[in-house]
Amino acid sequence: MIENRAGISDPTQVPYWIYSDPGHYKRELEAIFYGPHWHYVGIESEIPNVGDYKRTVIGERPVLVVRSAPDRVSVVLNRCAHRGVEICRTKFGHGKTIVCPYHQWSYGLDGGLLGVPFRRGMKGEGGYPADFDLGAHGLETLTVNNYNGLLFASFDPNVEPFADAVGPEILPWIHRAFDGRKMRVLGYQRQRITCNWKVYVENLKDSYHATLLHVYLITFLARAGQVGIQAQDARTHANHMTASARTRPSDELGTEGEMQSLRKDIVLHDPRMFASIKEYADDYSLVIAGLFPNFIVQMQSNNLQVRQAIPLGPDAFELSWTFFGYEDDTEELTQLRLRQANLSGAAGYISVDDTEVLEWSGSGMRVKPEDSGILALGGSATSHPPDDYRRTVSEAVIRGFYRHYFDVMGMK
Ligand code: FES
Ligand SMILES: [Fe+2]
Repeated sequence: MIENRAGISDPTQVPYWIYSDPGHYKRELEAIFYGPHWHYVGIESEIPNVGDYKRTVIGERPVLVVRSAPDRVSVVLNRCAHRGVEICRTKFGHGKTIVCPYHQWSYGLDGGLLGVPFRRGMKGEGGYPADFDLGAHGLETLTVNNYNGLLFASFDPNVEPFADAVGPEILPWIHRAFDGRKMRVLGYQRQRITCNWKVYVENLKDSYHATLLHVYLITFLARAGQVGIQAQDARTHANHMTASARTRPSDELGTEGEMQSLRKDIVLHDPRMFASIKEYADDYSLVIAGLFPNFIVQMQSNNLQVRQAIPLGPDAFELSWTFFGYEDDTEELTQLRLRQANLSGAAGYISVDDTEVLEWSGSGMRVKPEDSGILALGGSATSHPPDDYRRTVSEAVIRGFYRHYFDVMGMK
């Protein structure tokens, strides 16, 4: 096990041991996942009725996201205050109360302890002491933020306001999908990838690979040099957005010769994949917004999705995708959203390449954890000016993530 190392301040050289060391991973869970940061837990429309709940995880801790009142969502640790039993095992459920199966302590939907069997014992014998305080033994409750139906929670009650954590540069791009309209979840995908969760976060910030790795993307959708912008939050540099539009020919960056994955022999038999309905004032066909540590919103044409990279130990993570639309969508628009979902997910036309290369990243990085990778594309700055698409051939946004990560982990 590698002890915490101070003095890592060069985000152009990220050591591989941070992706595999078990002790470092434990510190990460404490500092990031159980510390003063916001974590995505769901979409409000997943639990429409009072008593509906969803089981999810933050780090490795299971939590329940509960509609505890018509206008309130509570998030509680899914662990009985009596003897530590994980209470709910199903992904979704409904109940008037939350009852532990072991000794049937029952909790209100907000996590408060309502009752315990045999509290007074039997015939005056046994039971809990007279001063046993139900109010002191509820489920651990988390701090919740509901941004237009997008739900985040934190174990730290002193977490900063959500809008401050996201930053004014990035919040409007979250708002693009979460503008207050009632959402409708269209489906889920999950996959397990044998690689550290941070490599996926990097992948979503890595515009370098997009036109080099993804055959589908460059064959049918994109070219380096298309109109695009990239921005980060000015304070931490760890939140980012990338937007691109299919309106410019390949005349700025990267020639077709440089992009070996361009395949002229591949044709798409169902051109309906390219159909789209204009939904936004801007002309971007792809918008990705990523929030520290592991949350992503992607709007690709009419397909809308959120993703999480949930750590499963240092060497693996679950990639969890939620596809959604809005309650007032027409059937035609819903079908477009669903058809375009084929780009993403475990077997997605684009995502499938990431899955495979991430597995290879995992296996390669574990071989010699004492070595470092190189993140020097575009210099050493940890952010670059927004609205300059020419600089998207840069790893600045990945360096920005590590600048903040080193800070949060006390590694500087
Ligand atoms: S462990 Fe839950 S009631 Fe005993
Ligand atoms: Fe990718």
